[in-house]
Amino acid sequence: MGNWGRRKSFLLIFFYIIIISVFVPWPIESCHLVDKTALLDFKRKATSDPSNLLQTWTLTTDCCKSWEGIACDSNGRVVNVSRPGLSSGDDFIIDTTISGTLSPSLANLSFLELLDLSNLKDLSGPIPPEFGKLSRLSYLFLDTNKLSGSIPVTFKNLYQLKKLYLSDNTLSGTIPSSIFEGSLSLSQLGLSANQFSGPIPSSIGNLLSLTKLDMSLNKFSGSIPESIGRLKNLAYVDLSENKLSGRIPNSIGNLSQVVLMYLNQNQLKGKIPSSISGLSSLVFCRLSENQLSGSIPPSIGNLPKIQRLIFENNKLSGKLTATLGHLVTLTDMFFSNNFFTGKIPSSFGNLQNLQTLDLSRNKLSGEIPHQLVKLESLQTLDLSFNPLGLSRIPNWFKKLKVFRLILAKTGIKGKLPSWLASLSLSTLDLSNNALTGKLPTWIGNMTSLSFLNLSNNAFHSSIPDEFRNLSLLMDLDLHSNKFSGNLREFFSKNFQDPLGRYNSINLAYNMFNGPLDENIGNEPVMASIVSLSLSHNPLTGHIPKSLGNLTILQEIKLAENGLTGGIPTELGDAKELKTILVSNNNLGGAIPAEVLNLKDLQEFDVSGNRLSGRIPPHKANIPKSAFLGNHGLCGAPLPPCKHT
Ligand SMILES: *[C@@H]1O[C@H](CO)[C@@H](O)[C@H](O)[C@H]1NC(C)=O
Ligand SMILES: *[C@@H]1O[C@H](CO)[C@@H](O)[C@H](O)[C@H]1NC(C)=O
Ligand SMILES: *[C@@H]1O[C@H](CO)[C@@H](O)[C@H](O)[C@H]1NC(C)=O
Ligand SMILES: *[C@@H]1O[C@H](CO)[C@@H](O)[C@H](O)[C@H]1NC(C)=O
Ligand SMILES: *[C@@H]1O[C@H](CO)[C@@H](O)[C@H](O)[C@H]1NC(C)=O
Ligand SMILES: *[C@@H]1O[C@H](CO)[C@@H](O)[C@H](O)[C@H]1NC(C)=O
Ligand SMILES: *[C@@H]1O[C@H](CO)[C@@H](O)[C@H](O)[C@H]1NC(C)=O
Repeated sequence: MGNWGRRKSFLLIFFYIIIISVFVPWPIESCHLVDKTALLDFKRKATSDPSNLLQTWTLTTDCCKSWEGIACDSNGRVVNVSRPGLSSGDDFIIDTTISGTLSPSLANLSFLELLDLSNLKDLSGPIPPEFGKLSRLSYLFLDTNKLSGSIPVTFKNLYQLKKLYLSDNTLSGTIPSSIFEGSLSLSQLGLSANQFSGPIPSSIGNLLSLTKLDMSLNKFSGSIPESIGRLKNLAYVDLSENKLSGRIPNSIGNLSQVVLMYLNQNQLKGKIPSSISGLSSLVFCRLSENQLSGSIPPSIGNLPKIQRLIFENNKLSGKLTATLGHLVTLTDMFFSNNFFTGKIPSSFGNLQNLQTLDLSRNKLSGEIPHQLVKLESLQTLDLSFNPLGLSRIPNWFKKLKVFRLILAKTGIKGKLPSWLASLSLSTLDLSNNALTGKLPTWIGNMTSLSFLNLSNNAFHSSIPDEFRNLSLLMDLDLHSNKFSGNLREFFSKNFQDPLGRYNSINLAYNMFNGPLDENIGNEPVMASIVSLSLSHNPLTGHIPKSLGNLTILQEIKLAENGLTGGIPTELGDAKELKTILVSNNNLGGAIPAEVLNLKDLQEFDVSGNRLSGRIPPHKANIPKSAFLGNHGLCGAPLPPCKHT
């Protein structure tokens, strides 16, 4: 195109512009100037906006028409400010941030109904008390940021407020009692994961519209106010992970709409109130990690919708009430680590939807009711650490369809029953019993096993070839038995990528002998092992150099064996190692600096060997005792080396 051609097209464009401006009137700006100024002030205080979320917010454009995240009423007043550019909701969450502070000028948006600046991750500083002027505000979402300071007292003036979410910030201080006297329309309150402290104001009982209350993960103290029972519409209450003390108020029984109640990880004491039967909508109930005592009230049998009862780690006692057997909707019962006594009620056989029955770590005794055979849905049965005095695993267990069977320290004696092979178990824990005899060849039929714990028994045999068939096994604990023979079967085990590589192996306190395979660290089945313990065996030979190839190994324990040779320098290549215990062997040579200077090393013990030379300088705080009993070692923390 020549010079003239370029000028011609320029003129043409100019001509069009004139035509357009004559026939199309300039739009009148609808955005109210006060609102625009306030929003631009917020933008000015945003110190970083890497995804340009506020790009469309400019002085020359209309905030009602072209600013992302802004909605106005017909008078050009801003009513909604939502996460700019993210207003299309949760279905496409863009991971982004805005840094800066909340400008008090936002309080000039006097027609504002919704302010959603949640999940911008980096908004910091206090919530301006001026926000109390936003008298039309219905929705305030400031969660998932780094806001600090306390909730302004002025919030009591937010009469229209329906939803308030301040979760996931670093807010602190007490909750002003007066805000629950003003914001009476509140239906959802989310304060979780902050550092709020002090009591839950009893004025909370005024929030009669409240459906959702989440105050979890704070430092709230004092007792749960009795007035909570007035919140008839409450459907979700989470007060977990605080410092709440005192009793669970009787009035909770009035909360007939509550579906989820989490009071776990507090310091609650006293009995579970018998009024609990009033929670007729309750589905999920978590009271674990408290100091609740006394027996479970029989009225609990009246919860028509309950699915999960999580009462573990309390001081509950007495007999398990037979009425628990009425809870046909129950899927999970977690009662571990309490002081329950007596027999497991036979009524539990009616719990046709039960998937998890965890009664471990109690004082239950007597026969296991054979009615449990009716539990068609049962997947996990954990009765471990109870004085059940089983002698044998009851034969009717072979009819169970469980995947996880945990019967540690239940008094089982004798040989493993062969019908175990016909269950499709992924977890089998029979540790701490008095099992004897061989590890049977049919163990290889249990091909679903991913976790096997037979520790603390009296097995005495070598490991059968068929063990290799356990191609999903990841965690193996056979410590404290009398197993013997070599270790080859373990390390040549089959696996089914990506499953079945070892996570942990504990073969300590047995009679395994022979040398460790030189290539142990190069076996594919070992590639993701985190913990390996072979201590207290009569193993001989060298520490294989190939162990250095175990890139995620954190723990290696080879103490009390008959190992010879040196500590291989290559062990320093296993960069995640935290624990190295090789005491009481016949190891010689020097301690490699590469090993003693592993960056995460916490526990190291080479005492009782024949090591020599200077202990390499190191940062980890290793006690002197860890080096004792090696006549040739010198240097800190042992006495200095003599210069010769
Ligand atoms: C907000 O309103 C106050 C009081 O009317 C005024 O002083 C201030 O300048 C306003 N802020 C902005 C950014 O408009
Ligand atoms: C403001 O947001 C609310 C709540 O999301 C919505 O119902 C309302 O329609 C929005 N108003 C405008 C003018 O977009
Ligand atoms: C609420 O619970 C308390 C204590 O259990 C009870 O005395 C009261 O009658 C209940 N109120 C209503 C309205 O159900
Ligand atoms: C095996 O059971 C014992 C208790 O009986 C326990 O101390 C040990 O940690 C368990 N092993 C694994 C790998 O969980
Ligand atoms: C183990 O599997 C083999 C081959 O499938 C079978 O013959 C044997 O009966 C099984 N053993 C047990 C104890 O189930
Ligand atoms: C189980 O192990 C034995 C011995 O290693 C082997 O001969 C057999 O084929 C294996 N069975 C299965 C089903 O993998
Ligand atoms: C460690 O692994 C590498 C790469 O697979 C291999 O070449 C080397 O021989 C191994 N080291 C030892 C000591 O086996």
